[in-house]
Amino acid sequence: MPVIASLNATTAGGWVRYAKLMQDAGADALELNLYHVAADPVKTAADIEAADLALIVAVRAAVSIPLAVKLSPYYSSLANVARHAVEAGADGLVLFNRFYQPDLDLDTLDVVARLDLSQPWELRLPLRWIAILRPELGPDASLAATSGVGSATDVVKALMVGADVAMMTSAILRNGPDKIRTVEAGLRTWMDEHEYESVSQLRGSASQTSVEDPSAFERANYMRTLRSWSAPRDLTTA
Ligand SMILES: Cc1cc2nc3c(=O)[nH]c(=O)nc-3n(C[C@H](O)[C@H](O)[C@H](O)COP(=O)(O)O)c2cc1C
Repeated sequence: MPVIASLNATTAGGWVRYAKLMQDAGADALELNLYHVAADPVKTAADIEAADLALIVAVRAAVSIPLAVKLSPYYSSLANVARHAVEAGADGLVLFNRFYQPDLDLDTLDVVARLDLSQPWELRLPLRWIAILRPELGPDASLAATSGVGSATDVVKALMVGADVAMMTSAILRNGPDKIRTVEAGLRTWMDEHEYESVSQLRGSASQTSVEDPSAFERANYMRTLRSWSAPRDLTTA
């Protein structure tokens, strides 16, 4: 069973030092969890991206195990950052980091940490981006989907848009580790019923260049999306 270490550090030296320590401790692969909120008004998007890319280069030079980078969806030009992350030495991208938003307690006026587990609809953000990035990055870059994966059909969707891996956290926390077995069995059943012989046959079959309408993954279908909304019954009859 491969063990993948996930690392989030704050200083450039810390990232490299702990990356080496994790490799020395026996990790089979390393994930850099680039989790930061870009709140400094002096820093430009280019500054932040350059710092992230320099970090990937530094860690890549320090360890030899496979390196994944967990990105946030909030870069101004995500496709460009993704491409540069791979060029900087990331073997794979994990999409996406889910930022936890603090809340206000109106009784104490404290800012409180709130961790809400994900909802199924959150899968759509990684689905869109994996569909877009898969043809762009080519077959050598691994892509992992994380956020909202909770069922076998979610895994099917992630694979179809081009993910190599579908990751689950909230679903396991909600249902216990047996959820993995259920989802894996469900995937096998779905593939049998739909006459897919292997995961590789599924993978990428619905990425942006494989679907009939590639613009569907971008903004071009904005009007169609808006028109797809219908009012709840009690509002239409009021
Ligand atoms: C309790 C908890 C702890 C987490 N710890 C980490 C962590 O240490 N590093 C990390 O990269 N992501 C961490 N995550 C984020 C998950 O890896 C995952 O990306 C996110 O929950 C979205 O996936 P999900 O919809 O399957 O939960 C954590 C999530 C939860 C709920």
